[in-house]
Amino acid sequence: MKLFLDTADLDQIREACRWGIIDGATTNPSLVFKTGREPRELYAEICRIVPGPVSLECIALDSAGIVAEARQLAEIADNVVVKVPIIREGLIAVKQLAALGIKTNVTVVHSPLQALLAAKCGATYVSPFVGRLDSVGQVGMEMIHQIRTIFDNYDFATEILVASARHPLHVLESALAGADVCTAPMEVMEQLYQHPMTDVVLKQFLADWAKVPAKG
Ligand code: E4P
Repeated sequence: MKLFLDTADLDQIREACRWGIIDGATTNPSLVFKTGREPRELYAEICRIVPGPVSLECIALDSAGIVAEARQLAEIADNVVVKVPIIREGLIAVKQLAALGIKTNVTVVHSPLQALLAAKCGATYVSPFVGRLDSVGQVGMEMIHQIRTIFDNYDFATEILVASARHPLHVLESALAGADVCTAPMEVMEQLYQHPMTDVVLKQFLADWAKVPAKG
């Protein structure tokens, strides 16, 4: 499963890319707002650093506006994927963008049927928001299992990009469910390699090594 970093923070992106585990990045208007940066300039920098697809979100809500905005975003770099919301106008735009060869990530998805429609229109990725569903008392990961079944039933090439991940269990369950990608914020990425037993065992090994008498 691919791991994308869900942030627009350049320091976080540089750091996580240094670890060698990041396959791409996702941004959204709220994440861009947090940086205080001018979007286009920021997007160009993110695309230079990330060694894979970078999702940049459209703001327009009508199909012609989305297509025009997507064309501009796609010019920023070769690794741009345009995020389009799952609304009727968004679906119309995704179909046109697929015909133009512009990659899309259909976002703010909260049901398997929305994902089915996105795939039928030729979306490159679909982003189901698991954490947001959990927060209203629905089991977000059930949606991922259902989307996986639907996409496999009909051989859709659209990739399932699990979004709104809140904790390591969301990443684990995404991998077990056969999701193609999970995007997660830096706090979650940092939790993925940590384990208390790793710390205990490593500490013991290093303490014993210090007592080995003759070290050539
Ligand atoms: C994904 O592309 C989105 O940026 C992200 O996962 C949104 O999640 P959140 O706003 O619920 O954290």
